[in-house]
Amino acid sequence: MITIIGSGKVGGAAALFTALRKVADEILLLDVVQGLPQGEAMDLNHMLSEKGVDVGIRGSNDYSEMKGSDIVVVVAGSGRKPGMTRMDLLKINASIVKGIVENIRKFAKDSMIIPVTNPLDPMAYLTYKVSGFESNRVFGMGNMLDLSRFVQFIHESTGYSRQSIRALVIGEHGENMLPLPRYSTVGGIPLTSILSADKIEGIVQGTRQVAAKVIQLKGATVHAPGNAIATIVEAVIRDTKQVIPVATYIDGEYGYSNVSIGVPAVIGKNGVEKVIELDLNSTEKEWFKKGIESVKDGISNLEV
Ligand code: 2OP
Repeated sequence: MITIIGSGKVGGAAALFTALRKVADEILLLDVVQGLPQGEAMDLNHMLSEKGVDVGIRGSNDYSEMKGSDIVVVVAGSGRKPGMTRMDLLKINASIVKGIVENIRKFAKDSMIIPVTNPLDPMAYLTYKVSGFESNRVFGMGNMLDLSRFVQFIHESTGYSRQSIRALVIGEHGENMLPLPRYSTVGGIPLTSILSADKIEGIVQGTRQVAAKVIQLKGATVHAPGNAIATIVEAVIRDTKQVIPVATYIDGEYGYSNVSIGVPAVIGKNGVEKVIELDLNSTEKEWFKKGIESVKDGISNLEV
């Protein structure tokens, strides 16, 4: 069973994309708002019925129903409003996430947790600390979403098929995220030999800023985060060993400790099965460091 805590737009989209991948018989939508998860579940079940997909979606306001969950996805909390950074949400969301994680500890102590609430990296750290789970069982979804935007920019700039594009983004899921053109390819050809340095710089900046643009235009990002969550859930349930950047606790990797941040990891049935350390150049190291400093600053404002 997959539990998704938070039944707003992103929670609903995560349930939809996860159901369509048929990776679990049952998906539980939880929310404190009476009626919302139940209504969302009904709407999704109607869609799945027409498609002949036998995945049952259930909505509830009762945390104890998450007993037996394999994975708990946490999307609950306040979302970014136009003009806000992800870090602006720290104080509002920390107490919500803390309360939720205490319930996960109580009712789903053998699960894995995928934090999604912003600011993502500090919330992943908070989740790791409050849950007391091993670090391989707590991994936040942030850079997988950034990566989907980087791929779209590469597609738009080259005109080549999205299917040929492999791209990587690591670091903070925030202002200092680190898209990595040197580790991105189209059909196996390094991006750096396909596009000019100026063009690449443009799409790197675009990747950093485009979520704010979507929020300005439609109020929230929905489908891309919903799908990115489902991709990570699928990697765990099907034990694919896919390399996906996730926000997990690092202890010496990349030269930093006592922090959670986006790093490439092998994802399988044990969650984070291995963190992959890349050989970053000096500019990349600088951006990664800025991300670490920003996340640590956020963490210093948390009570854990
Ligand atoms: C996003 O990048 C707002 O963090 C959210 O879509």
